[in-house]
Amino acid sequence: MVLRHALMTASESGRLRAFVSRTPAARGAVDRFVAGEHAEDAVRAVADLAAQGMLATIDHLGERTLHPLQAEDATRSYLVLLGRLADAGLAGSAEVSVKPTAVGLGLGAEGEALAADNIARIATAAERADTTVTVDMEDAGSVAAILRIYHQVRDDHPGLGCVLQSALRRTEGDLVAVARPGTRVRLCKGAYAPDPGTAHTRRHDVDTAYVRLLRWLMESQAYPMVATHDPRLIKIAGILAAVNGKGRTEFEYQMLYGVRPDEQWRLAQEGAQVRVYVPYGPDWYGYLTRRLAERPANVGFALRSLAGR
Ligand code: FDA
Repeated sequence: MVLRHALMTASESGRLRAFVSRTPAARGAVDRFVAGEHAEDAVRAVADLAAQGMLATIDHLGERTLHPLQAEDATRSYLVLLGRLADAGLAGSAEVSVKPTAVGLGLGAEGEALAADNIARIATAAERADTTVTVDMEDAGSVAAILRIYHQVRDDHPGLGCVLQSALRRTEGDLVAVARPGTRVRLCKGAYAPDPGTAHTRRHDVDTAYVRLLRWLMESQAYPMVATHDPRLIKIAGILAAVNGKGRTEFEYQMLYGVRPDEQWRLAQEGAQVRVYVPYGPDWYGYLTRRLAERPANVGFALRSLAGR
C-alpha cells in the first residue's frame, strides 16, 4: 500500500519524470508495456495481435497537455495513425483510445470545448477509416467534464465509446445515463489515486462495485467492454454474458499490452473477443508508473531492467 502510494505520487512528479525519461536503460521496463515510440510500432503490434485472433485499441501516449499546440500535435498523431491503420488494412482490427487531457481538456476555460472539438475530428477520421474511438476516463476531477464531452460528441458520432470506473461512487448514475442500446461502454476499476470523498478506497469495495456495474451492463442493451485482468471478474463476466444470452460478438474482454498475455491468448483461443490496449509514443512515463503502482510485483522487473539485468 505504501509502495503503491509512493508510485502514484511519483506518477505526478515532473522531476522524477525528467530523470527517468533521460535514462536509456529505462527502455527495458518500458518495452514490456509500450509498443514503441512511433505509429509504425503500434501498427506492427496490431498486426501481431490480429495474427493471434485479437483486436486492439491504440493509445497515443500523453496526457495533461500544457499548450493548445501540444493538443493539436496529439490530435494530428491520431489522424496520422488512423491513416496508417487504413493503409495497412488493419482498421477492422483496431480502434483508438483518446485521453481528453491529451487533446485539450484542462487548458483553461476553453479547454473543454477544444477537447470536444479534437475528439470529434478524431471520430470523423475514424469513421472514414471504418473504425471507432473510445474516450478514456481520467482522474476523478475530470470525470464530469469528460462525460459532458462524451455526450456532446456522441450525438454526431454514435460509435463513440466511453469508460467508467468502478472505484468511483458516482459511476452507477453515470452508467444509467450512458448505457443506451448499442453504446460501447468500457468498465474498468480505475487507475487513479482514490479520493475517499468520491471513491471506494478498499480493493474489496472496488471489486464488489465492479460486479454490480457489470451485472447491470450485461443486462442492458449496451455493448460491454470488460476491461480487467482480474481472474475472478473475467470468470463472472463470462457467466453473466451466458446468463443474459450475449453471444460472442455482443461483448468483449479488454486487457493492457504486456499484461497477462497468456490469458489474452487463452480467451481468444476459447473463441471470445479480446481487445488489447496498445499504448505507443515517447511520453510513456505517467502510463508506466500507473502500471507499476497497480502491481508492485512489476517494480522488481522494472528495477532489474534499469540495472541492466
Ligand atoms: P487489479 O489490478 O485489481 O488486479 C486484480 C488481479 O488481476 C490480481 O490480483 C491478479 O490476479 C491479476 N493481475 C493484475 N495485473 C496482473 C499482472 N500484471 N500479471 C498477472 N496478473 C495480474 N483506467 C482508467 O482509469 N481509465 C481508463 O480509461 C482505463 N482504460 C483501461 C483500458 C483497458 C483495456 C484496461 C485493461 C484497463 C484500463 N484502465 C483504465 C486501468 C484499470 O482501471 C485498472 O487500473 C487496471 O486494469 C488494473 O486493474 P485490474 O482490473 O486489472 O485488476
